[in-house]
Amino acid sequence: MNKKTLLATALAAAALCALPLLASCSGSSESAQPAEDGSYTLVEEGKLTVAASLDFPPFENLENGDVVGFEVDLMKAIAEKMGLECSYLPTMKFDTIIPAIVAGGTADVGVSGFTITPEREEEVDFSTPICDTNQCIVVPAGSDITDESQLAGKRIGAETGTTGLSWAKENLADAQEVVAFDEYPAVFAALQSGQVAAVVLDKPVADYYINIAYPDCQVVKEIPTGEQYGIAVSKKNPNLTAAIDQAIAELESDGTIAELDRKWFGTQA
Ligand code: ARG
Repeated sequence: MNKKTLLATALAAAALCALPLLASCSGSSESAQPAEDGSYTLVEEGKLTVAASLDFPPFENLENGDVVGFEVDLMKAIAEKMGLECSYLPTMKFDTIIPAIVAGGTADVGVSGFTITPEREEEVDFSTPICDTNQCIVVPAGSDITDESQLAGKRIGAETGTTGLSWAKENLADAQEVVAFDEYPAVFAALQSGQVAAVVLDKPVADYYINIAYPDCQVVKEIPTGEQYGIAVSKKNPNLTAAIDQAIAELESDGTIAELDRKWFGTQA
C-alpha cells in the first residue's frame, strides 16, 4: 500500500466511524450495533411519544382537555426515569394503535390498557405487566340478566379490537349479534338506548364509567379472564422495551407504582 492509498483508507475509515461515533465509542467499542449498546430509537428526540385511545378511565382519559389516568402517570414516571419528556398524541381509535406501532414513525409506545395476548405478541413487544384485570358484563340497572346464559338471542356491545369483543364473540355464540363500537362512550350509549342488551369490557373501566357517568348501568358478572396490561413497543426497538422494563423495576422498588395504585385504585398492588 502506498502512502496515498493508506491516507484514503484511513479517511474512509474515519468517515465510516464518524456517524456511529456516539453510539459505538462509549463503553465497549467492539460493535456499533444498537442492540448491544442499549440504544433505542425515538420518533422525536428527547421525547417518549405515546399513542393512546383516551376513552379508558381510570387508565387514560381526557378530562377538561388534560390527559389523565393511572397509565398516564405511569408513563410520565417512566419517561422521567429515562430522562425523556412524556408526550401524548391526540386520541386514536384503539384498534389503530398496534398497527401504528408496527408501521413506525408515529409513536414510540402504545399504552391503552393493552392486554398482553399471544396474537398481539406476534406483532409487537410488551413491557413487563403493569396491571391485572378481568372482563365483566354490564347491563342496564334493573335488567333481569344476571348471567351470560341469559344473553342468548340478544345484542351485545363491545369496543372494536378489544379482548372484550373477542370474549363476547367466542363465548356468546347464542347471542343475536356482537356489535363493535369505536369508543366506550358509544358502547354505553348503545346500552342506555337499548340498542344492545349488555356490554363487555374491562371491569375497572366499567366500574369507573358507571360511577362517574352511567349510574343507570350495573356490572352483573365479573369474568375471570385474568388479563394483564403491557406497554406495546415495536419489535424493531427491543432496547426501548428493555429501558422501559428497567424504569418499571425502579418504579416498583422506589414505591412509585404502589403510590399510583393508591391514587387511582385506593389499593396497594
Ligand atoms: N384490555 C382490553 C384489550 O386489550 C381493552 C383495552 C381498551 N383500551 C382503550 N383505551 N380503549 O383489548
